Amino acid sequence: MAENGMNLRQAGISLDLSGKVALVTGSSSGLGMSIARYFAKAGAKVAVHYHSEKDQAEQLVREIISNGGVASAFGGDVSSLSDVESIFRQIDQKLGPVDVLVNNAGIDGKRALCGEDNPEDWQKVIAINLVGPYYCSREAVKRMKSRRSGVIINITSVHEFIPWAGYSAYGSAKAGLSMFTKTLAQELAEFGVRVVAIAPGAIKTPINRDVWSNPESLKDLLDKIAMPRLGEPEDIGKAAVFLASDLASYITGVTISVDGGMLIYPAFKHGG
Ligand code: BGC
Repeated sequence: MAENGMNLRQAGISLDLSGKVALVTGSSSGLGMSIARYFAKAGAKVAVHYHSEKDQAEQLVREIISNGGVASAFGGDVSSLSDVESIFRQIDQKLGPVDVLVNNAGIDGKRALCGEDNPEDWQKVIAINLVGPYYCSREAVKRMKSRRSGVIINITSVHEFIPWAGYSAYGSAKAGLSMFTKTLAQELAEFGVRVVAIAPGAIKTPINRDVWSNPESLKDLLDKIAMPRLGEPEDIGKAAVFLASDLASYITGVTISVDGGMLIYPAFKHGG
């Protein structure tokens, strides 16, 4: 990467994140892990955040370091304000103030129709998927605004647009996170801070293993995607590194869908 990175930089095309401190919440698995790997490859110092998968987070840190990168693991619950404040303080001491924040940590929650569900489960999904990004952004903003630079990337979902029966909390949190993205972008544009969202489609990760590991539900899912495949975590890592880089210098307040065409109504290829 270093050699190609140099050539591209000389050509004025730079995905280089050297010297930047990047916090990726929930990066002990799935999309977050891929984003952390891509950031490390681009030269960022990566704060690998985990909630319960400490071993996996530490393994990722070792992998990044053995590839010549800089990384450190930080544990905590993004839905706890005191945990989030403490994570940011630890990152300040160990790596320096956060330049790039990726609010990735999230859960789908249990499938349950409204009225047949448990209000505590509903609130937990909102707490992790929406309140967590707010707490983390709050800390990031304090550090970015005064330095007049920074990027916040919120990982939403195609379900910020597409309703999903049985997952009303998830869709509501993701749509809320989209509006949070736009509002924060408006607040921070004059301070040189960009705020964007990535809406992943069906990406093959542990979160939806029960769907892609069953041939029938896999076929049903593939019928909902225009491209003939599920997404891979790398598809999201690549988009995140682009959005964090100077190549995206004039992009703020929008959601980029990385969904293989889930949002283009593939069912309308026929009939209608
Ligand atoms: C969910 C996945 C789901 C995908 C497409 C994502 O936001 O986390 O479980 O497969 O949306 O429906």
